[in-house]
Amino acid sequence: MRFLQPDFDLSKHNTFNIKAKTLYYFEPHSIEDIVDFFDLDLPALEKHKERQLELLVMGGGSNLLFTQDFDGIVICPLIKGIDILSEDAESVLLQVAAGEVWDEWVDWCVESGYAGLENLSHIPGSVGASPVQNIGAYGVEVMDFIEEVETFVISERKIKILKKEECRFAYRDSIFKHELKNDSIVTSVTFRLSKKANTKLTYADLQKWFGDQEQVSIADVRKAIVEIRKSKLPDPCEIGSAGSFFKNPVVSQNKFMELQAHHPQMPFYRIDETSVKIPAGWMIDQCGLKGFRQGDAGVHDKQALVLVNHGAATGKEIANLAAMVKNRVAEKFGVEIEPEVIWI
Ligand code: EPU
Repeated sequence: MRFLQPDFDLSKHNTFNIKAKTLYYFEPHSIEDIVDFFDLDLPALEKHKERQLELLVMGGGSNLLFTQDFDGIVICPLIKGIDILSEDAESVLLQVAAGEVWDEWVDWCVESGYAGLENLSHIPGSVGASPVQNIGAYGVEVMDFIEEVETFVISERKIKILKKEECRFAYRDSIFKHELKNDSIVTSVTFRLSKKANTKLTYADLQKWFGDQEQVSIADVRKAIVEIRKSKLPDPCEIGSAGSFFKNPVVSQNKFMELQAHHPQMPFYRIDETSVKIPAGWMIDQCGLKGFRQGDAGVHDKQALVLVNHGAATGKEIANLAAMVKNRVAEKFGVEIEPEVIWI
């Protein structure tokens, strides 16, 4: 079959640059390729049906940590295309194929004057991966602009359209990480974007950047965010990482008050009256771990939420470092932090 490769090396297909192999690697270029693939008489597919074999759909491999070889099928959709479905004076509805590169799509929107996604500039990965973990940055989450997600449901061998409400989006979470995990391949995402800029500059880094500048265009926002991210996050061409390694934990109001009493300078984002989100990066930093290194596995020296591979770290070494970081944060703050990257 076209685009199907057995015993495939994934080193260049994960941004941590971890050496790992998969039993099968498949790059569909169309929905027909996906349908044909699942019609194949492949022993691996039988095993998947019997739930004895895992399936991993990956976009840019920018949110994965391989701690061992993957005994399953990796599918990397390369379906391309951007279609305008409808538009009026206010907004535009666009269907974007899963294999489009996320940041090229955001750039296209900004160039076209379609507002909404500019705060999500410079995030690695593909359009198809964006709803899976509901990517977010600088006060915006992709769910804010998604109308529906088209997905191939493997057990039913058919395309299904999920309305936004059915995707069960939450902070770095969706149905694709739960019920539909191992059973679906996102094939396209439909976005509603605005023709009128309504820039969101509430995030501290952006307020600092723009000061009291009055007219801020979506192109200005994109430019600022690319620069801010470049200054904090490792350059993927130079150093392996998967962006934020941990999620920012949400604590109860009581726990928050206890923490704040000990650490009055602690940054926080209030969620509601009973819960508060605390930046894990700040806590890791307070543990004195920023720039810490164990062999080639390290904590990034400009953003402690990011773990990096300085060269030849294995997935296990990164995992060991993550466990140590998690323990140190738990000891110092009594808060459990959980990874946002997907462990394989
Ligand atoms: N901080 C420190 N030291 C550090 C890191 C952070 O003191 O080493 C402090 C910062 O000064 C700031 C606070 O912690 O007061 C939050 O830091 P930052 O603004 O850098 O954002 P974050 O909460 O660490 C989240 C996302 C990022 C996203 C940024 C910007 C998660 C897991 N991460 O990070 O997303 O770019 O906000 O919106 O929610 C990603 O998911 O891969 C990612 C990079």
